[in-house]
Amino acid sequence: MSHCRICGGPVREFFDFGRQPVSDVFPRPEEIGTEHFYRLAVGFCDTCTMVQQSQEVSRDRMFPADYPYRSSGSALMRRHFEATALHYLETELRGDDPFYVEIGCNDGIMLGSVRAAGVRHLGVDPAEDAARVAGAGGSRVHVGFFEESTGHRIRETEGAARLVFSANTISHIAYADSVFAGVRALLAEGGVFVFEDRYLGDIVHHTYFDQIYDEHFYLFSVRSVQAMAETYGFDLVDVEHLPVHGGTMRYTTARAGERTPRESVPRLLAAERELKLAEWSTYESFAAKIESNCRELISLLVDLREQGKRVLGYGATCKSATVTNYCGIGPDLVSFVCDSTREKQHRVTPGAHIPIRPPESFASPYPDYAVLFAWNHAEEIMAKEQEFRAAGGRWILYAPDVRVV
Ligand code: SAH
Ligand code: TMP
Ligand code: ZN
Repeated sequence: MSHCRICGGPVREFFDFGRQPVSDVFPRPEEIGTEHFYRLAVGFCDTCTMVQQSQEVSRDRMFPADYPYRSSGSALMRRHFEATALHYLETELRGDDPFYVEIGCNDGIMLGSVRAAGVRHLGVDPAEDAARVAGAGGSRVHVGFFEESTGHRIRETEGAARLVFSANTISHIAYADSVFAGVRALLAEGGVFVFEDRYLGDIVHHTYFDQIYDEHFYLFSVRSVQAMAETYGFDLVDVEHLPVHGGTMRYTTARAGERTPRESVPRLLAAERELKLAEWSTYESFAAKIESNCRELISLLVDLREQGKRVLGYGATCKSATVTNYCGIGPDLVSFVCDSTREKQHRVTPGAHIPIRPPESFASPYPDYAVLFAWNHAEEIMAKEQEFRAAGGRWILYAPDVRVV
Protein backbone atom coordinates (compact mmCIF):
# COMPACT_ATOMS: atom_id res chain seq x y z
CA MET A 1 0.00 0.00 0.00
CA SER A 2 1.32 3.45 -0.89
CA HIS A 3 0.86 6.68 1.06
CA CYS A 4 -0.97 9.82 0.03
CA ARG A 5 1.30 12.49 -1.46
CA ILE A 6 -0.88 15.15 0.20
CA CYS A 7 -1.88 13.90 3.66
CA GLY A 8 0.27 10.80 4.22
CA GLY A 9 -2.77 8.54 4.70
CA PRO A 10 -3.03 5.06 3.19
CA VAL A 11 -3.96 4.88 -0.49
CA ARG A 12 -6.07 1.94 -1.75
CA GLU A 13 -5.37 1.04 -5.35
CA PHE A 14 -8.46 0.49 -7.51
CA PHE A 15 -7.00 -0.06 -10.96
CA ASP A 16 -3.68 -1.32 -12.27
CA PHE A 17 -3.05 -0.69 -15.98
CA GLY A 18 0.25 -2.52 -15.70
CA ARG A 19 3.31 -1.60 -17.71
CA GLN A 20 2.74 1.69 -19.52
CA PRO A 21 5.01 4.06 -21.43
CA VAL A 22 5.52 7.78 -20.85
CA SER A 23 2.50 9.01 -22.78
CA ASP A 24 3.80 12.11 -24.53
CA VAL A 25 7.14 10.88 -25.84
CA PHE A 26 6.74 9.71 -29.43
CA PRO A 27 9.66 7.58 -30.63
CA ARG A 28 11.05 7.87 -34.12
CA PRO A 29 10.90 4.45 -35.81
CA GLU A 30 14.62 3.91 -35.08
CA GLU A 31 14.08 4.73 -31.37
CA ILE A 32 11.57 1.91 -30.77
CA GLY A 33 12.64 -0.09 -27.75
CA THR A 34 14.34 2.80 -25.96
CA GLU A 35 11.16 3.99 -24.24
CA HIS A 36 10.70 4.25 -20.50
CA PHE A 37 7.92 2.17 -18.95
CA TYR A 38 6.44 2.21 -15.47
CA ARG A 39 3.49 0.70 -13.60
CA LEU A 40 0.40 2.87 -14.06
CA ALA A 41 -1.94 2.29 -11.14
CA VAL A 42 -4.44 4.57 -9.41
CA GLY A 43 -5.74 4.59 -5.87
CA PHE A 44 -7.98 6.46 -3.47
CA CYS A 45 -6.88 8.07 -0.19
CA ASP A 46 -9.35 7.12 2.53
CA THR A 47 -8.33 10.14 4.57
CA CYS A 48 -8.40 13.17 2.25
CA THR A 49 -10.15 11.45 -0.75
CA MET A 50 -7.41 12.41 -3.22
CA VAL A 51 -7.20 10.00 -6.16
CA GLN A 52 -3.61 9.57 -7.25
CA GLN A 53 -1.13 7.28 -8.90
CA SER A 54 0.92 4.75 -6.98
CA GLN A 55 4.12 5.43 -8.89
CA GLU A 56 5.60 8.65 -10.15
CA VAL A 57 7.41 9.19 -13.45
CA SER A 58 10.23 11.72 -13.10
CA ARG A 59 9.37 15.18 -14.39
CA ASP A 60 12.35 15.24 -16.73
CA ARG A 61 11.07 12.17 -18.54
CA MET A 62 7.54 13.53 -18.90
CA PHE A 63 8.39 17.12 -19.82
CA PRO A 64 11.60 17.19 -21.87
CA ALA A 65 12.66 20.18 -23.99
CA ASP A 66 10.94 18.69 -27.05
CA TYR A 67 7.64 17.87 -25.28
CA PRO A 68 5.31 17.76 -28.30
CA TYR A 69 1.94 18.88 -26.92
CA ARG A 70 0.75 22.24 -28.24
CA SER A 71 -2.23 23.89 -26.59
CA SER A 72 -2.94 25.92 -29.70
CA GLY A 73 -3.52 22.75 -31.77
CA SER A 74 -7.22 22.97 -31.01
CA ALA A 75 -9.48 25.84 -32.09
CA LEU A 76 -11.78 25.01 -29.19
CA MET A 77 -8.99 25.39 -26.63
CA ARG A 78 -7.77 28.59 -28.29
CA ARG A 79 -11.23 30.07 -27.86
CA HIS A 80 -11.45 28.75 -24.31
CA PHE A 81 -8.19 30.40 -23.23
CA GLU A 82 -8.89 33.66 -25.05
CA ALA A 83 -12.20 33.90 -23.23
CA THR A 84 -10.50 32.99 -19.94
CA ALA A 85 -7.88 35.70 -20.43
CA LEU A 86 -10.59 38.27 -21.20
CA HIS A 87 -12.48 37.28 -18.07
CA TYR A 88 -9.42 37.81 -15.86
CA LEU A 89 -8.44 41.05 -17.62
CA GLU A 90 -11.85 42.37 -16.57
CA THR A 91 -11.63 41.03 -13.00
CA GLU A 92 -8.42 40.04 -11.18
CA LEU A 93 -6.07 41.84 -13.56
CA ARG A 94 -7.66 45.29 -13.39
CA GLY A 95 -6.14 48.29 -11.72
CA ASP A 96 -2.63 49.52 -11.27
CA ASP A 97 0.13 47.43 -12.90
CA PRO A 98 -1.18 43.94 -12.18
CA PHE A 99 1.27 41.05 -12.65
CA TYR A 100 0.15 37.71 -14.16
CA VAL A 101 2.07 34.45 -13.76
CA GLU A 102 1.13 31.26 -15.60
CA ILE A 103 2.39 27.83 -14.61
CA GLY A 104 2.56 25.51 -17.64
CA CYS A 105 1.98 28.18 -20.31
CA ASN A 106 3.08 25.82 -23.12
CA ASP A 107 2.95 27.63 -26.49
CA GLY A 108 1.32 30.63 -24.88
CA ILE A 109 -2.29 30.99 -26.02
CA MET A 110 -3.50 32.36 -22.70
CA LEU A 111 -0.28 34.28 -22.06
CA GLY A 112 -0.50 35.92 -25.50
CA SER A 113 -3.95 37.33 -24.78
CA VAL A 114 -2.75 38.80 -21.48
CA ARG A 115 0.33 40.27 -23.20
CA ALA A 116 -1.81 41.75 -25.99
CA ALA A 117 -3.71 43.69 -23.33
CA GLY A 118 -0.42 45.22 -22.18
CA VAL A 119 -0.43 43.45 -18.82
CA ARG A 120 2.85 42.50 -17.16
CA HIS A 121 3.19 38.72 -17.32
CA LEU A 122 5.50 35.75 -17.01
CA GLY A 123 4.95 32.18 -18.14
CA VAL A 124 6.84 29.28 -16.57
CA ASP A 125 7.22 26.03 -18.50
CA PRO A 126 10.03 23.48 -18.82
CA ALA A 127 8.97 22.47 -22.35
CA GLU A 128 11.56 24.57 -24.14
CA ASP A 129 10.32 24.14 -27.73
CA ALA A 130 6.74 25.04 -26.79
CA ALA A 131 7.96 27.93 -24.61
CA ARG A 132 9.99 29.23 -27.55
CA VAL A 133 6.78 29.49 -29.58
CA ALA A 134 5.24 31.57 -26.77
CA GLY A 135 8.39 33.72 -26.66
CA ALA A 136 8.38 34.22 -30.42
CA GLY A 137 4.86 35.62 -30.08
CA GLY A 138 6.32 38.29 -27.78
CA SER A 139 5.39 36.80 -24.39
CA ARG A 140 7.88 36.51 -21.53
CA VAL A 141 8.63 32.95 -20.49
CA HIS A 142 10.94 31.37 -17.94
CA VAL A 143 11.96 27.92 -19.14
CA GLY A 144 11.90 25.66 -16.09
CA PHE A 145 9.73 23.80 -13.60
CA PHE A 146 7.73 25.89 -11.15
CA GLU A 147 8.44 24.89 -7.55
CA GLU A 148 8.91 26.66 -4.23
CA SER A 149 12.20 28.34 -5.15
CA THR A 150 10.74 29.64 -8.45
CA GLY A 151 7.95 31.40 -6.58
CA HIS A 152 10.43 33.12 -4.28
CA ARG A 153 12.72 34.11 -7.14
CA ILE A 154 9.95 35.63 -9.26
CA ARG A 155 8.63 37.54 -6.25
CA GLU A 156 12.08 38.99 -5.57
CA THR A 157 12.84 39.96 -9.14
CA GLU A 158 9.43 40.94 -10.52
CA GLY A 159 7.17 41.56 -7.56
CA ALA A 160 3.98 39.92 -6.34
CA ALA A 161 1.41 38.39 -8.69
CA ARG A 162 -2.24 39.39 -8.64
CA LEU A 163 -3.17 36.15 -10.42
CA VAL A 164 -1.29 32.86 -10.70
CA PHE A 165 -3.08 30.75 -13.28
CA SER A 166 -2.48 27.20 -14.43
CA ALA A 167 -4.44 24.95 -16.80
CA ASN A 168 -3.99 21.21 -17.06
CA THR A 169 -0.71 21.34 -15.17
CA ILE A 170 -1.21 21.35 -11.38
CA SER A 171 -2.64 17.81 -11.47
CA HIS A 172 0.55 16.79 -13.33
CA ILE A 173 2.80 17.83 -10.46
CA ALA A 174 3.20 15.28 -7.67
CA TYR A 175 5.16 17.77 -5.50
CA ALA A 176 2.07 19.86 -4.75
CA ASP A 177 3.52 21.01 -1.41
CA SER A 178 6.37 22.78 -3.18
CA VAL A 179 4.06 24.35 -5.79
CA PHE A 180 1.70 25.76 -3.15
CA ALA A 181 4.65 27.07 -1.13
CA GLY A 182 5.96 28.81 -4.26
CA VAL A 183 2.57 30.31 -5.04
CA ARG A 184 2.20 31.38 -1.42
CA ALA A 185 5.43 33.33 -1.69
CA LEU A 186 4.50 34.83 -5.04
CA LEU A 187 0.91 36.00 -4.55
CA ALA A 188 0.09 39.61 -3.75
CA GLU A 189 -2.14 40.12 -0.75
CA GLY A 190 -5.70 39.35 -1.86
CA GLY A 191 -4.41 37.68 -5.03
CA VAL A 192 -5.68 34.33 -6.28
CA PHE A 193 -4.25 31.06 -7.47
CA VAL A 194 -6.59 29.59 -10.11
CA PHE A 195 -6.12 26.20 -11.70
CA GLU A 196 -8.25 24.05 -13.96
CA ASP A 197 -7.89 20.32 -14.43
CA ARG A 198 -9.89 17.29 -15.62
CA TYR A 199 -12.68 16.58 -13.13
CA LEU A 200 -12.74 13.22 -11.37
CA GLY A 201 -16.56 13.24 -11.30
CA ASP A 202 -16.69 13.25 -15.11
CA ILE A 203 -13.91 10.70 -15.45
CA VAL A 204 -15.61 8.20 -13.16
CA HIS A 205 -19.19 8.73 -14.29
CA HIS A 206 -18.49 8.76 -18.03
CA THR A 207 -15.81 6.04 -17.83
CA TYR A 208 -13.19 8.38 -19.28
CA PHE A 209 -10.56 5.93 -18.09
CA ASP A 210 -8.09 7.09 -20.75
CA GLN A 211 -7.71 10.31 -18.76
CA ILE A 212 -5.54 8.16 -16.53
CA TYR A 213 -1.95 8.36 -17.78
CA ASP A 214 1.43 9.36 -16.35
CA GLU A 215 0.92 13.13 -16.52
CA HIS A 216 -2.37 13.06 -14.63
CA PHE A 217 -0.75 12.17 -11.33
CA TYR A 218 -3.77 13.45 -9.39
CA LEU A 219 -7.41 13.20 -10.43
CA PHE A 220 -8.92 16.15 -8.58
CA SER A 221 -12.36 16.49 -7.04
CA VAL A 222 -13.79 19.55 -5.32
CA ARG A 223 -13.47 17.86 -1.96
CA SER A 224 -9.90 16.65 -2.43
CA VAL A 225 -8.76 20.02 -3.77
CA GLN A 226 -10.36 21.78 -0.83
CA ALA A 227 -8.51 19.44 1.55
CA MET A 228 -5.25 19.92 -0.35
CA ALA A 229 -5.58 23.71 -0.37
CA GLU A 230 -6.25 23.74 3.37
CA THR A 231 -3.25 21.50 4.03
CA TYR A 232 -1.06 24.14 2.37
CA GLY A 233 -2.64 27.21 4.02
CA PHE A 234 -5.12 28.13 1.26
CA ASP A 235 -8.91 28.30 1.07
CA LEU A 236 -10.96 27.09 -1.86
CA VAL A 237 -13.03 30.20 -2.62
CA ASP A 238 -14.71 29.47 -5.96
CA VAL A 239 -15.34 26.48 -8.24
CA GLU A 240 -16.65 26.32 -11.77
CA HIS A 241 -17.48 23.27 -13.86
CA LEU A 242 -16.39 23.70 -17.50
CA PRO A 243 -17.16 21.48 -20.51
CA VAL A 244 -13.63 21.35 -22.02
CA HIS A 245 -11.60 18.12 -22.16
CA GLY A 246 -14.67 16.05 -21.31
CA GLY A 247 -15.27 17.91 -18.05
CA THR A 248 -12.94 20.26 -16.25
CA MET A 249 -13.18 22.02 -12.91
CA ARG A 250 -11.71 25.46 -12.34
CA TYR A 251 -10.61 25.97 -8.73
CA THR A 252 -9.95 29.43 -7.31
CA THR A 253 -7.88 29.46 -4.15
CA ALA A 254 -6.59 32.26 -1.95
CA ARG A 255 -4.33 32.38 1.09
CA ALA A 256 -6.35 31.30 4.13
CA GLY A 257 -8.66 34.03 5.40
CA GLU A 258 -8.07 36.46 2.52
CA ARG A 259 -11.32 35.89 0.62
CA THR A 260 -14.84 34.79 1.48
CA PRO A 261 -15.75 31.55 -0.34
CA ARG A 262 -18.50 31.94 -2.94
CA GLU A 263 -21.72 29.93 -2.80
CA SER A 264 -20.35 27.76 -5.63
CA VAL A 265 -18.13 25.93 -3.15
CA PRO A 266 -20.86 24.43 -0.94
CA ARG A 267 -23.11 24.01 -4.01
CA LEU A 268 -20.58 21.96 -5.98
CA LEU A 269 -19.51 20.04 -2.88
CA ALA A 270 -23.16 19.05 -2.43
CA ALA A 271 -23.47 18.06 -6.10
CA GLU A 272 -20.29 16.02 -5.72
CA ARG A 273 -21.73 14.10 -2.77
CA GLU A 274 -24.35 12.75 -5.18
CA LEU A 275 -21.52 11.37 -7.31
CA LYS A 276 -20.24 9.38 -4.30
CA LEU A 277 -16.61 10.19 -5.02
CA ALA A 278 -15.72 9.65 -1.37
CA GLU A 279 -16.97 6.04 -1.42
CA TRP A 280 -14.81 3.05 -2.20
CA SER A 281 -17.64 1.19 -3.98
CA THR A 282 -17.65 3.92 -6.67
CA TYR A 283 -14.09 2.95 -7.59
CA GLU A 284 -14.93 -0.75 -7.62
CA SER A 285 -17.71 -0.09 -10.14
CA PHE A 286 -15.45 2.22 -12.17
CA ALA A 287 -12.80 -0.53 -12.36
CA ALA A 288 -15.37 -3.09 -13.56
CA LYS A 289 -16.62 -0.68 -16.24
CA ILE A 290 -13.07 0.00 -17.47
CA GLU A 291 -12.58 -3.76 -17.88
CA SER A 292 -15.81 -4.22 -19.79
CA ASN A 293 -15.24 -1.24 -22.14
CA CYS A 294 -11.75 -2.51 -22.95
CA ARG A 295 -12.99 -6.05 -23.59
CA GLU A 296 -15.69 -4.75 -25.95
CA LEU A 297 -13.31 -2.47 -27.82
CA ILE A 298 -10.86 -5.28 -28.42
CA SER A 299 -13.50 -7.70 -29.59
CA LEU A 300 -14.91 -5.07 -31.98
CA LEU A 301 -11.47 -4.39 -33.47
CA VAL A 302 -10.68 -8.09 -33.80
CA ASP A 303 -14.05 -8.68 -35.54
CA LEU A 304 -13.39 -5.84 -37.96
CA ARG A 305 -9.96 -7.24 -38.78
CA GLU A 306 -11.52 -10.65 -39.44
CA GLN A 307 -14.02 -8.99 -41.78
CA GLY A 308 -11.10 -7.42 -43.64
CA LYS A 309 -12.09 -3.86 -42.72
CA ARG A 310 -9.55 -1.06 -42.75
CA VAL A 311 -9.34 0.73 -39.39
CA LEU A 312 -7.37 3.90 -38.57
CA GLY A 313 -7.05 6.05 -35.44
CA TYR A 314 -7.64 9.79 -35.14
CA GLY A 315 -5.62 11.85 -32.63
CA ALA A 316 -2.34 10.56 -31.19
CA THR A 317 -3.40 11.76 -27.75
CA CYS A 318 -1.72 10.96 -24.44
CA LYS A 319 -5.02 9.34 -23.54
CA SER A 320 -4.60 6.86 -26.38
CA ALA A 321 -1.41 5.53 -24.80
CA THR A 322 -3.45 4.07 -21.95
CA VAL A 323 -6.09 2.57 -24.27
CA THR A 324 -3.72 1.08 -26.84
CA ASN A 325 -1.22 -0.31 -24.34
CA TYR A 326 -3.78 -1.67 -21.90
CA CYS A 327 -5.95 -3.23 -24.62
CA GLY A 328 -3.00 -4.40 -26.70
CA ILE A 329 -3.98 -2.40 -29.78
CA GLY A 330 -1.09 -2.25 -32.25
CA PRO A 331 -0.70 -1.61 -35.99
CA ASP A 332 -2.32 -5.02 -36.67
CA LEU A 333 -5.66 -3.60 -35.45
CA VAL A 334 -5.26 0.13 -36.17
CA SER A 335 -3.00 0.66 -39.19
CA PHE A 336 -1.99 4.23 -38.39
CA VAL A 337 -3.17 7.26 -36.44
CA CYS A 338 -3.69 10.70 -38.00
CA ASP A 339 -2.64 13.73 -36.02
CA SER A 340 -2.26 17.40 -36.92
CA THR A 341 0.71 17.97 -34.57
CA ARG A 342 3.81 18.21 -36.75
CA GLU A 343 6.03 17.11 -33.82
CA LYS A 344 4.18 13.77 -33.61
CA GLN A 345 4.01 12.95 -37.32
CA HIS A 346 6.23 10.24 -38.83
CA ARG A 347 6.86 8.92 -35.34
CA VAL A 348 5.05 6.05 -33.62
CA THR A 349 2.71 6.01 -30.63
CA PRO A 350 4.42 5.20 -27.31
CA GLY A 351 4.48 1.52 -26.41
CA ALA A 352 1.95 0.38 -29.02
CA HIS A 353 4.11 1.66 -31.92
CA ILE A 354 1.28 2.62 -34.25
CA PRO A 355 2.65 4.91 -36.99
CA ILE A 356 1.48 8.55 -36.91
CA ARG A 357 0.66 10.35 -40.16
CA PRO A 358 -0.61 13.82 -41.02
CA PRO A 359 -4.40 14.26 -41.31
CA GLU A 360 -4.08 14.42 -45.12
CA SER A 361 -3.40 10.66 -45.08
CA PHE A 362 -6.87 10.07 -43.65
CA ALA A 363 -8.63 10.61 -46.96
CA SER A 364 -6.37 8.65 -49.26
CA PRO A 365 -8.37 6.48 -49.25
CA TYR A 366 -10.77 6.83 -46.32
CA PRO A 367 -10.76 3.81 -43.98
CA ASP A 368 -13.92 1.85 -43.14
CA TYR A 369 -13.64 2.80 -39.46
CA ALA A 370 -11.66 5.27 -37.36
CA VAL A 371 -11.13 5.08 -33.61
CA LEU A 372 -11.58 8.62 -32.30
CA PHE A 373 -8.80 8.78 -29.70
CA ALA A 374 -9.20 12.60 -29.53
CA TRP A 375 -12.86 12.27 -28.46
CA ASN A 376 -12.58 15.54 -26.50
CA HIS A 377 -12.28 17.29 -29.88
CA ALA A 378 -15.08 15.25 -31.48
CA GLU A 379 -17.08 18.19 -32.73
CA GLU A 380 -14.10 19.92 -34.32
CA ILE A 381 -12.72 16.73 -35.90
CA MET A 382 -16.04 15.34 -37.13
CA ALA A 383 -16.83 18.71 -38.72
CA LYS A 384 -13.43 18.76 -40.42
CA GLU A 385 -13.78 15.18 -41.60
CA GLN A 386 -17.44 15.27 -42.69
CA GLU A 387 -16.64 13.51 -45.96
CA PHE A 388 -15.42 10.44 -44.13
CA ARG A 389 -18.93 9.65 -42.94
CA ALA A 390 -20.42 10.74 -46.24
CA ALA A 391 -18.14 8.15 -47.88
CA GLY A 392 -19.61 5.47 -45.59
CA GLY A 393 -16.93 5.62 -42.87
CA ARG A 394 -17.83 5.19 -39.19
CA TRP A 395 -16.30 6.53 -36.00
CA ILE A 396 -15.54 4.18 -33.11
CA LEU A 397 -15.85 5.59 -29.59
CA TYR A 398 -14.96 3.70 -26.41
CA ALA A 399 -16.28 5.97 -23.64
CA PRO A 400 -18.70 6.22 -21.90
CA ASP A 401 -19.53 3.04 -23.90
CA VAL A 402 -18.08 1.34 -26.94
CA ARG A 403 -20.14 2.42 -29.94
CA VAL A 404 -19.95 2.98 -33.66
CA VAL A 405 -21.41 6.23 -35.01
N1 SAH B 1 -1.68 25.02 -19.99
C1 SAH B 1 -1.64 24.35 -21.29
C2 SAH B 1 -0.62 23.21 -21.33
C3 SAH B 1 -0.98 21.99 -20.58
S1 SAH B 1 0.20 20.69 -20.84
C4 SAH B 1 -3.01 23.86 -21.67
O1 SAH B 1 -3.88 23.74 -20.82
O2 SAH B 1 -3.20 23.52 -22.83
C5 SAH B 1 1.11 20.77 -19.32
C6 SAH B 1 2.23 21.77 -19.40
O3 SAH B 1 2.77 21.89 -18.08
C7 SAH B 1 3.38 21.32 -20.30
O4 SAH B 1 3.69 22.34 -21.21
C8 SAH B 1 4.52 21.05 -19.29
O5 SAH B 1 5.79 21.30 -19.84
C9 SAH B 1 4.17 21.99 -18.17
N2 SAH B 1 4.71 21.65 -16.82
C10 SAH B 1 4.85 20.44 -16.25
N3 SAH B 1 5.36 20.55 -15.01
C11 SAH B 1 5.53 21.88 -14.78
C12 SAH B 1 6.02 22.65 -13.67
N4 SAH B 1 6.44 22.08 -12.55
N5 SAH B 1 6.05 23.99 -13.81
C13 SAH B 1 5.62 24.60 -14.94
N6 SAH B 1 5.15 23.94 -16.01
C14 SAH B 1 5.09 22.59 -15.92
P1 TMP C 1 -5.48 16.36 -26.43
O1 TMP C 1 -6.64 15.42 -26.34
O2 TMP C 1 -4.44 16.06 -25.43
O3 TMP C 1 -5.94 17.80 -26.46
O4 TMP C 1 -4.77 16.06 -27.83
C1 TMP C 1 -5.46 16.16 -29.03
C2 TMP C 1 -4.62 15.58 -30.15
O5 TMP C 1 -5.43 15.49 -31.31
C3 TMP C 1 -3.42 16.42 -30.50
O6 TMP C 1 -2.29 15.58 -30.72
C4 TMP C 1 -3.82 17.11 -31.79
C5 TMP C 1 -4.82 16.16 -32.39
N1 TMP C 1 -5.84 16.83 -33.19
C6 TMP C 1 -5.94 16.58 -34.55
O7 TMP C 1 -5.16 15.77 -35.07
N2 TMP C 1 -6.88 17.23 -35.28
C7 TMP C 1 -7.74 18.13 -34.73
O8 TMP C 1 -8.59 18.71 -35.42
C8 TMP C 1 -7.64 18.38 -33.31
C9 TMP C 1 -8.57 19.34 -32.65
C10 TMP C 1 -6.68 17.70 -32.59
ZN1 ZN D 1 -4.71 11.89 1.49
